[in-house]
Amino acid sequence: MKLQIVKIGFPVLRKKTEKIDTAVLPDKKFKQLIKEMIKTMHKMDGVGLAANQVGLDMQLITLECKANSRYPEAHDFPLEVWINPRILKYSAEKEEDWEGCLSIPGYRGVVPRSKWVTFEALTPEGERVEKTVSGFHARVIQHEVDHINGFFYMDRMKDLKRWFHLDEFNHLLNSHISDK
Ligand code: NI
Repeated sequence: MKLQIVKIGFPVLRKKTEKIDTAVLPDKKFKQLIKEMIKTMHKMDGVGLAANQVGLDMQLITLECKANSRYPEAHDFPLEVWINPRILKYSAEKEEDWEGCLSIPGYRGVVPRSKWVTFEALTPEGERVEKTVSGFHARVIQHEVDHINGFFYMDRMKDLKRWFHLDEFNHLLNSHISDK
């Protein structure tokens, strides 16, 4: 099974994806899919991946952040795999930060997101969990849960003037670094 990232314009990225029937969780094929999603996320240097980004109409997301070349200053969080995740509560207080997306390569935008969210999901073993996360972790959860509901980060942007090509984003970053 080789997974391919699909890009903005691919229809399944713009729909509310199908819930996963827990009966499939023990299947070898499903477990293999989770492994391949994690492998693809790592290979692409992503901090999160939704199943519809590899063309699959299902509610499955993976996320993990170790400081890497795309997110050098981000706060780390461990590998998570969530089935049918749903955000139950968004903090009213928001913060802005830059986001990118593997399905929209070469761009970055400033996106306001809730500082913390409470979400529910199933683990790959089918156990229901409810968790509250904050900061960059909450940002990635919001980005990935948006994906499985058919939204991109630009849909959440308040000012498209702060949507940058990666080259210009890097110029901005470098000029900030040389200012210090
Ligand atoms: Ni994305």
